[in-house]
Amino acid sequence: MIEVEDLVKTYTKGNVETEVLKGVSFRIEEKEFVSIMGPSGTGKSTLMNILGAMDKPTSGRYSLDGVDVATLDDDDLSLLRNRSIGFVFQQFHLLDRATVLRNVMLPLVYEDEDSGDARARAEDVIEAVGLGERIHYRPTELSGGQQQRVAIARAMVTDPVIVLADEPTGNLDHRNGLEILALFQRLNAEGRTILMITHDREVAEYANRVLVLRDGRVVEDRAISEPRNAEEELSALPSEEATAKSA
Ligand SMILES: Nc1ncnc2c1ncn2[C@@H]1O[C@H](COP(=O)(O)OP(=O)(O)O)[C@@H](O)[C@H]1O
Ligand SMILES: [Mg+2]
Repeated sequence: MIEVEDLVKTYTKGNVETEVLKGVSFRIEEKEFVSIMGPSGTGKSTLMNILGAMDKPTSGRYSLDGVDVATLDDDDLSLLRNRSIGFVFQQFHLLDRATVLRNVMLPLVYEDEDSGDARARAEDVIEAVGLGERIHYRPTELSGGQQQRVAIARAMVTDPVIVLADEPTGNLDHRNGLEILALFQRLNAEGRTILMITHDREVAEYANRVLVLRDGRVVEDRAISEPRNAEEELSALPSEEATAKSA
């Protein structure tokens, strides 16, 4: 599915070179839910940009779904980003002036927008993230957790081979963060391949495997035999009304 070998990324500013990734190798198989964990500044977003084909490594190999990404031209790279990868970011990155439906349909630009097909697909994924009743709302009319669910629906609408999420719970409170993690766990149980980046050790443990990145290297690669269960933890929280009353 994903295979990276000896990835190196060096940034150059003036005549100062900083090696951010120092030879990163791993494989991720279909239907895995993997987290990449590491302290801030350690190269996680740099790695995600390369895996998302938004940036090129200085050296090393990266293949996605059997394709060597370095061999692709710009058109193929856009197509890969658009079709094969679903992106979820800490800051949601939604268009505030477009409805939930329009936001989710954005990756379908290459399709006939008004074809019933594209719209039906968008409606399906919006339903799947639990926002069926908010399809005509705008992001500013939604909570942070709901906005992130819109972003996840948008990431899934093209049926990508992998969803890449960079600190997806970073802007959310505990309950909303758990809801996003529960959603990822459910999507993964349904067969989605998910790679989630986080600096938070606890968040990392909702995945089935964690790769620890430190100073630009993978220092640990471990299966989590009993991942935390977001759904269970959610149902153990006091109800929202109870929280509101006590606040
Ligand atoms: N475009 C860039 N130019 C120069 N340095 C960068 C650039 N992007 C990131 N860096 C540096 O690379 C290091 C790793 O950054 P990043 O990948 O964002 O880490 P993380 O996501 O783990 O916090 C940081 O020291 C950062 O300053
Ligand atoms: Mg980052």
